[in-house]
Amino acid sequence: MVEVDVHNGLPQMIIVGLADASVRESRERVRSAIKNCGFDLPPRAVVINLAPADLRKEGNHLDLAIALALMAAHGQIPDSALEGRMLCGELGLDGTIRPIRGGLSIADLATREGLREVLLPRPNADQAAALGGIPVIPVRSLGEAVSHLLDEDPIDAAQGGLDPLVAALEVPDLAEVRGQEAAKRALEVAAAGGHNLLFIGPPGSGKTMLARRLPGLLPPLHLAESIAVTKIHSLVAEEPPSRLLQQRPFRSPHPGVSTAGMIGGGSIPRPGEASLAHGGVLFLDELPEFHRDALESLRQPLEEGKVTVVRTRARLEFPARFALLAAMNPCPCGHFGDVRGQCRCPAPTVERYRSRVSGPLLDRIDLHVEVPSVSLEELRGRSGEPTAVVAARVLAARDLQRQRFAQRVPPVNASMGPEDLETWCRPSDAARRLLDAAFERLGLSARAMTRILKVARTIADLAQSETIETAHVAEAIQYRSLDRRMGGGG
Ligand SMILES: Nc1ncnc2c1ncn2[C@@H]1O[C@H](COP(=O)(O)OP(=O)(O)OP(=O)(O)O)[C@@H](O)[C@H]1O
Ligand SMILES: [Mg+2]
Repeated sequence: MVEVDVHNGLPQMIIVGLADASVRESRERVRSAIKNCGFDLPPRAVVINLAPADLRKEGNHLDLAIALALMAAHGQIPDSALEGRMLCGELGLDGTIRPIRGGLSIADLATREGLREVLLPRPNADQAAALGGIPVIPVRSLGEAVSHLLDEDPIDAAQGGLDPLVAALEVPDLAEVRGQEAAKRALEVAAAGGHNLLFIGPPGSGKTMLARRLPGLLPPLHLAESIAVTKIHSLVAEEPPSRLLQQRPFRSPHPGVSTAGMIGGGSIPRPGEASLAHGGVLFLDELPEFHRDALESLRQPLEEGKVTVVRTRARLEFPARFALLAAMNPCPCGHFGDVRGQCRCPAPTVERYRSRVSGPLLDRIDLHVEVPSVSLEELRGRSGEPTAVVAARVLAARDLQRQRFAQRVPPVNASMGPEDLETWCRPSDAARRLLDAAFERLGLSARAMTRILKVARTIADLAQSETIETAHVAEAIQYRSLDRRMGGGG
């Protein structure tokens, strides 16, 4: 909130309320913008108070509000013109209004506060209007804003809408990946049930290539998701998106990423990779290279679908519900167990390499899949199913889950708890026998059994089968068979 007090005294302008450097600079911009728009402010003593005082104000988006409040305090526009309106924008020296970050969040806030109208820079307005909240008035200059407020030259509210150009963005097609049928199937299962997935294989086998095709298999973003995704990205984008994003994000942070970079932070908290992946895919390529604490920090988002950043002055929550996809080589040289490559790594090195990723994170990955190197035959072979065909099966399987878990966010099998297993994951008698045999033979843990049942439920859903049959359990067991080789109990 911006409050302005004008009184007699030395002509000067003071801004209070923990303004950071950019806010103080706004004093100069505001002064010159007002002058250049042809308004005249007599030199008086002015105190501008930014409330609440204990919250840091960042950025230049307060310029417009400061300018208009200043004009009201000088009696150039009536106070009533500002009532019930939220005003946001950065001013250029010439009075033009430049785009800001987080326009969507501002329109959302204004709507929730029950205000009647929000004025935003023109490039921000369409996107903010897509929210469907209170009218969003697009303004290009201070002069335009004033004429609108005085009802001299009212501006029509922005219409909003989704940007077809953004929607048409290309996602690489699954058909371009030759061979690797098992890995492609695992992607399909992961997409269908919301399961996390780990690829293990030698260099150049196509792990990264496969991973980039996961967003194309996920169902399209619905409006609420699209708004949430756009809000987060608007906070960090150099150039704020002008419309709603419709593409599921695919984030592939560098292994050197810090904990703050991963889950968010900073003195002015910003969302991290986990939140930027919200609604889409967080891809951790070269998993063992990541800092351990950065990986550990993913525990909260993986469990709760959000990140809490605590600061002395504020406690912020960012949504962070993503599909986790990880890839790694089986050893430092990458060729352990590879029929075509020769592994030169001593056994203890292999052990150490793998132990870096054991533990809590691995525990939260339902599907572990080997991606062997492709043969020349496979590379020259015919292409497999295109993304669209697989995505259609995923969508059908997701529909079944939506009916099953109507009240749940997200309505996917991966979010089932122990109590759901009894209700939804009853295998047929033969399937139960297979599961019991695997338990003994593979030395699986009780937790691994739960995983297998959940994944089997997803596989049955992909087959549009109400019961979980032997074939479904058999496939699900395959996705755990690396447990023992990885040295984890799963
Ligand atoms: N199955 C495949 N079908 C077609 N091309 C492939 C396949 N696998 C790999 N390639 C080709 O090899 C390149 C390298 O593959 P990619 O980067 O996905 O390997 P990777 O498994 O991630 O390796 P690394 O372990 O070194 O990260 C791809 O860009 C692609 O051109
Ligand atoms: Mg790779």
